[in-house]
Amino acid sequence: MRRFVVLGHRATTSPEFSLDDLSGATGRLDILLRCINSSFFLSHSIRKDVEIHLILQGPPSPTKTIRFVGSELKYLNPDERSTAALIRSSLSQRAEGEKKTSPGIYMSSRKYSDVISLLAKDSQIYYLKEQGHDVRRLPSFEQDITFVLGDDRDLTPEEEQVLFEYDPIEVSLGPESLHADHCITIVHNELDRRLEKN
Ligand SMILES: C[S@@+](CC[C@H](N)C(=O)[O-])C[C@H]1O[C@@H](n2cnc3c(N)ncnc32)[C@H](O)[C@@H]1O
Repeated sequence: MRRFVVLGHRATTSPEFSLDDLSGATGRLDILLRCINSSFFLSHSIRKDVEIHLILQGPPSPTKTIRFVGSELKYLNPDERSTAALIRSSLSQRAEGEKKTSPGIYMSSRKYSDVISLLAKDSQIYYLKEQGHDVRRLPSFEQDITFVLGDDRDLTPEEEQVLFEYDPIEVSLGPESLHADHCITIVHNELDRRLEKN
């Protein structure tokens, strides 16, 4: 299973947002929507072996975590507006623990540190960071892996500290600073190529 955790540093936790202004008043929810697309969409199908955890840390009631599970997704389309509507519907529901809000979509009030702690139990954590080890020089990847990345902002020193408790491998995807969704596409491509060779 490939997992991605994207920190939405100021992404809205309110369902009261307009689908006509996804990059403005939503705290850059548009970035997270593009990350969903990069995580799941192939030309003619959806990647089943993928999960993405979006950590929404903006006002008014942080934290909300929305988890998308590729093997269960039913109503995901490539247009970001319809995915934003699914997120809006999730945020309008009350969750005790983690609640399924649509096929393959789960919402909880789990904080970033809780999410990482859960994922680190059964997967190696990779921290996507410009200054990390070149992805092309890493000898191998485990079957169950989690990649953590920022939205349009890097992880704060406090968020990095949480991650460092789990001995992450810091990975660079190249010399340029990339958009978060592009990072996900490149990670998939690197892993796909390695699978092809095996
Ligand atoms: C748009 S970047 C964040 C801001 C960016 N670091 C800057 O200086 O403008 C989003 C996230 O993608 C990841 N990222 C971007 N470029 C990367 C690269 N070359 N290698 C690995 N991760 C990268 C990092 O996790 C980063 O926090």
